[in-house]
Amino acid sequence: MSMETPATNAPVERKSMDVLEAIRTRRSIGRVKSDPVDRAVIEELLEAASWAPSHFNTQPWRFIVMTGDGRAALGEGYANVAKSGWPEMSAEELEAKLQKERAKAYRSPVVIAAVYSKSEDSRAVYSEELAAAQAAVQNLLLAAHAHGLGAIWRSGEPMYNPLMRSALGLTEGKEELTGLIYLGYPDMAPPAQKRAPISEKTVWLEA
Ligand SMILES: Cc1cc2nc3c(=O)[nH]c(=O)nc-3n(C[C@H](O)[C@H](O)[C@H](O)COP(=O)(O)O)c2cc1C
Repeated sequence: MSMETPATNAPVERKSMDVLEAIRTRRSIGRVKSDPVDRAVIEELLEAASWAPSHFNTQPWRFIVMTGDGRAALGEGYANVAKSGWPEMSAEELEAKLQKERAKAYRSPVVIAAVYSKSEDSRAVYSEELAAAQAAVQNLLLAAHAHGLGAIWRSGEPMYNPLMRSALGLTEGKEELTGLIYLGYPDMAPPAQKRAPISEKTVWLEA
């Protein structure tokens, strides 16, 4: 694989947040400001994503970063998927509804489509490859949080539709969307969240 990054290099300025604090305090932030996010910061989030584990180190992911008018591709994806399920309607009504669908892509200044991209390694197992691509998303979310950004991992039915994959230029049969990460500077307080005590979900087997 080209352009590999050695683990020891630290060329970019790192934000410091204790990893456990980042894990605990990260929340899904669905409302963000329209202020742009520096490209260097976005690149650091992507680099953090790339340090996720993957069996055989296949790194079965890629990312489509959409900002500004670049978000139109995603907007077309939402519009095409929605339209495919609608009955006949007037041109005026159709356009109004399509506008609403396209607007979904503009909920944040940056949207990153996280793509599972099948590796060439014959040993790779689909469920593990998907897990690795999803682990990369979590890395990205934690890095965004450490940078003071708000982010939300969105999915929903349109994300799994071939029309969305086509709008984003994915290779059918080889690539799938694992998440649409909407991010920007937070415009809301982090919502309170709860987790079940982990003791309820843990069994200890001890001598
Ligand atoms: C695979 C996946 C898909 C998700 N899809 C959506 C979504 O479509 N819309 C949404 O509002 N939140 C979505 N979320 C965010 C979850 O709702 C959120 O993580 C959960 O409520 C826990 O809140 P927290 O992230 O603030 O801890 C998704 C999370 C994951 C992991």
